[in-house]
Amino acid sequence: MTIEIVRNVFELEAAVARRRMEPTNAAATVGIVPTMGSIHEAHEKLIFTARKHSDIVVATIFVNPKQFGTNEDFDTYPRDEEKDTSKLEAAGCHIVYIPSIENIYPSNFDLSITIPKLSSVLCGRFRKNHFQGVATIVAKLLVQSRADYGFFGEKDFQQLLIVKKLVNSLDIPCKIISISTVRDKEGLAISSRNRYLEKDKKLIANNLYKILCEASKNIVTGENIELVIDKARNNILESGFNKLDYLEIRSEKDLEEIKTYSNKKSRIFVAAYINDIRLIDNIAIE
Ligand code: PAF
Repeated sequence: MTIEIVRNVFELEAAVARRRMEPTNAAATVGIVPTMGSIHEAHEKLIFTARKHSDIVVATIFVNPKQFGTNEDFDTYPRDEEKDTSKLEAAGCHIVYIPSIENIYPSNFDLSITIPKLSSVLCGRFRKNHFQGVATIVAKLLVQSRADYGFFGEKDFQQLLIVKKLVNSLDIPCKIISISTVRDKEGLAISSRNRYLEKDKKLIANNLYKILCEASKNIVTGENIELVIDKARNNILESGFNKLDYLEIRSEKDLEEIKTYSNKKSRIFVAAYINDIRLIDNIAIE
């Protein structure tokens, strides 16, 4: 069956209901993969994973204005509905929900969801209101779709924890399932914004993952965390990045800062710039 495009919540409900009426689908589960379009391999992996866990797979394409800062790339964010839809279809997605901005945020819309603690660190310190925008749209999409499962990537680990906290705090009956970061053959985490990297900048970007891996290895072998971080920061700048927002070790559970290595699960998180292109990444320390 070909992918179905729906553009408002009523069409979404009707499309899911129609699929449920298929004889084998009466007790079907729904999985949702929220995206902002610009579909790439990581989204495709989310769709494959969603297919394994759920009978009906819904992807959403919505470039959410509420999660972009005033100087960020909302206007230039890549948009290509036709290409995105055919990639989603090829990956096995059943329904794609592409609402308009007015549809999601009518003029009388007046809601903003804050997850204060988890949003106060890492990207939240540098992208004011970003996670409020993310939490608000994700809540809306999960409620609108009534999905049983929601799929998110570990590349945006802070976002993943915020979505889990959101679902947990509001008792939204949706289980959040994460997938590990998808990387290209040089190790760069796949992201829609990688398309901004020209050849010379891509070569610089390729260093980030290697430096994180080295730092992680050194921490596990007992080196002092502060020294490892200093060295990794210098290596990132020397490799051609011009600025870092942060490079920190934090707990995987609640993003508390980690100063000494223990058996508590932790990750190294980075946000760094090549000119005005901001890349984020994180890996487990193990
Ligand atoms: O990760 C993204 O692409 C976005 O933050 C999300 C989850 C689709 C919400 O707009």
